[in-house]
Amino acid sequence: MKKNDDQAATKNGAKRKLRSQLWFDNPDNPGMTALYLERYLNYGLTRRELQSGKPIIGIAQTGNDLSPCNRHHIELAQRVREGIREAGGIAMEFPTHPIQETGKRPTAALDRNLAYLGLVEILFGYPLDGVILTTGCDKTTPACMMAAATVNIPAIVLSGGPMLNGWFNGERTGSGTVVWKSREEMAAGKIDYDEFMDIVASSAPSVGHCNTMGTASTMNSLAEALGFSLPGCAAIPAPYRERGQIAYETGKRAVEMVWEDLKPSDFLTRKAFENCIVVNSAIGGSTNAPIHINALARHIGVDLTIEDWQKFGHDVPLLVNMQPAGFYLGEEYHRAGGVPSVVRELMKHKRIHEDALTVNGKTMGENCRDATPPDSDVIRTYDKPLVKDAGFIVLRGNLFDSAIMKTSVISKEFRDRYLSNPKDPEAFEGRAIVFEGPEDYHHRIDDESLNIDEHCMLFVRGVGPIGYPGGAEVVNMQPPAALIKKGITSLPCIGDGRQSGTSGSPSILNASPEAAANGGLAILKTGDRVRIDLNKGEANILISAEELKKRHADLKANGGFPYPKNQTPWQELYRDTVGQHATGACLELATRYHNIAGTIGVARDNH
Ligand code: FES
Ligand code: MG
Repeated sequence: MKKNDDQAATKNGAKRKLRSQLWFDNPDNPGMTALYLERYLNYGLTRRELQSGKPIIGIAQTGNDLSPCNRHHIELAQRVREGIREAGGIAMEFPTHPIQETGKRPTAALDRNLAYLGLVEILFGYPLDGVILTTGCDKTTPACMMAAATVNIPAIVLSGGPMLNGWFNGERTGSGTVVWKSREEMAAGKIDYDEFMDIVASSAPSVGHCNTMGTASTMNSLAEALGFSLPGCAAIPAPYRERGQIAYETGKRAVEMVWEDLKPSDFLTRKAFENCIVVNSAIGGSTNAPIHINALARHIGVDLTIEDWQKFGHDVPLLVNMQPAGFYLGEEYHRAGGVPSVVRELMKHKRIHEDALTVNGKTMGENCRDATPPDSDVIRTYDKPLVKDAGFIVLRGNLFDSAIMKTSVISKEFRDRYLSNPKDPEAFEGRAIVFEGPEDYHHRIDDESLNIDEHCMLFVRGVGPIGYPGGAEVVNMQPPAALIKKGITSLPCIGDGRQSGTSGSPSILNASPEAAANGGLAILKTGDRVRIDLNKGEANILISAEELKKRHADLKANGGFPYPKNQTPWQELYRDTVGQHATGACLELATRYHNIAGTIGVARDNH
């Protein structure tokens, strides 16, 4: 047990024997040391380097040809390596399981937990003293952070940064957001197929991830708000020179973090998560954030609930004027000061725990106090925000135990009528139109026999973590073409799936438990009356208690809510172990593994 003592007897920056030396310099077991050493020499590393006691820093490489949003990390890794060397470390780059939000079928969400599992095994089983997490595209960021939380070795996030702004006919075209907008125009007959393709392609003018405040910019901003990256890291556009510069600084810092033994559990505290929720409201962050952040909290052992998102986030104003909730894109967000400016403004209004520690060893307060002040357009002041009370609302009722609604994107008329007038609260009621997944929706949305009018609510079910599998981003459904032509461009949308962070639809989503887990959505029928009360946070099918009971009994008698069969082995493993959106859609068994205070120990020798 001498090895563990070596590790434990260290702190306060004194040079000490590192974890990697259990592989490369273990006098107790020369046979194994030789075996571990020899193969890492075969591409030119020397024995002296590997036995010098220098920190070995992993670069968890999420970029590859299948993952265009993160591909730029392949080049950035060069600057990361230079930073690591400069600070006296040795870099070892390795691939992670690819997750491409727009390319992976049936969902990229399915692969978040797979990439997580793979990275846990790598960080645990290889001679790494610290790791740089190259993040970007939606699920790559939480997958990497979750794995680092589980293994709990020094870790730092390096975002890849958003693409440059997209432009078409002199107007900004933002990733994803332009798709939802232009598909309406195509449905209304204003543009044709080719124009639609050209407009959407214009939104991706360079390397980088989505340039809107979609899930990618959200999750990278939140990584920074959690203290997981260097200040200013999230917003720098991928092609800007500052991106390469912060890659270098991140490499350097990773080495120092190893000597300081600064681990995720040191900064991913309850306070950091509360900061994160507040920042998410202020940036108009994605509805995917609660799923990923709640998952991260569970993997680091912090108690965080879906209700906390409303409790700490709802009354925070929207400060960042960026699509989909606002107007601008990533370049302006960066130029206006990015996350540090947002945090600075929130700090002035006592909404941030300033003493929360961050990866640079300083507190959030120290990092952000002197950030660029709000410019009153791209980043608004707290007193003159784009929207007041802009955080999520959490709803419950006989339809689900919880679902969320992003209030920063609700129209003013809707807000004034249903949300901002608690003295005279008004609920909205409608006739349910129920779709069994996106294929059914596309097939039947224009079916005249459904009589869809402006008093209907569109439901989609069977699209949650188990049902789809992975939870599909399909809840933002557009009304029938006939209604759009009349000028009705949105109807209330509700579902057990998710929606793209780039969508400006005020859907009620992430419903838990999902239909496939026999939640309330499973017993809903087309034609049912549904009542939503945003002030009370309630969502109910208007049926009697007896009828409700009978429908659930019938569902049970019929073997529960059906869903498609597994198509791959991973789908089976995933469905058997995944939890619901409200609690992070984690692999439930994985949340039992916490390496806090080194309790997991180190792996045994492999021969
Ligand atoms: Fe990858 Fe948006 S699709 S970042
Ligand atoms: Mg998406």
